[in-house]
Amino acid sequence: MTTASDGRDDRDAGGETAGVPAHVAVIMDGNGRWAKARGLPRTEGHRRGMETVRRIIRHASRRGIGHLTLYSFSSENWRRPAEEVGFLMGLLKYFIRRDLAELHTENVHITVIGERADLTPDIAALLAEAEALTRDNTGLHLVIAFNYGSRDEIVRAARILAERVARGELAPEAIDRDMVSAALFTGGIPDPDLVIRTSGEQRLSNFLMWQAAYSELVFSSVLWPDFDEAAFDAAIDEYNGRERRFGGVDAVQGAK
Ligand code: FPP
Repeated sequence: MTTASDGRDDRDAGGETAGVPAHVAVIMDGNGRWAKARGLPRTEGHRRGMETVRRIIRHASRRGIGHLTLYSFSSENWRRPAEEVGFLMGLLKYFIRRDLAELHTENVHITVIGERADLTPDIAALLAEAEALTRDNTGLHLVIAFNYGSRDEIVRAARILAERVARGELAPEAIDRDMVSAALFTGGIPDPDLVIRTSGEQRLSNFLMWQAAYSELVFSSVLWPDFDEAAFDAAIDEYNGRERRFGGVDAVQGAK
């Protein structure tokens, strides 16, 4: 784990480490299929998926990744059976209660993105506690996307800017990309360089659609509960083999 006294010196002043993307975002998919293949309830797949979350956070930190964003519960996941939704809520609580102190010791900075208003007060309070405790940490920045949906996030940003226009604080023609970016849940967080989706599915599913405009997409066939350090490293290797041009003709230097 990267702490103030060890791996952090691998990172340069901008928080980037040579050979790895600065921001990796992951669509953690395949928990249900992993469980089904073993004749287990879907919830067991999620429980095992949480153990993968713990491993990948530690591995990303050790590798000097600056930001790791994990799609943990989408705004569409409420459509699942109530028992499964309840289990996922409980899993988040369990994860924070069990791991928060250790993540803090390991210098991890936690931010949660998504709509908080729909969450129960105990979950909202835990998320706020995790953010407050770790806000000054300088190691891995862990972004937990929970009750997150990209379209809702963009609508919310439009409303924030529209309210500023209505109050006379902002001229419509002054609205630019940076202002929209700043009004998203991810305001202040750099765009992902790499988006990984596990389980063989190949779509964004309402995840970071504004922010991933120029992200490299890597699709792994591994189901999330089996997604280990080697699978993560394979995705990084695939990313490192890509040439990023950001709409131009030439590869952009230092884009990896
Ligand atoms: C997608 O698999 C996964 C989810 C909807 C939930 C992700 C949750 C975790 C990995 C564990 C909890 C994480 C934290 C941070 C507490 P799926 O159920 O859609 O799988 P399937 O497509 O095979 O059915």
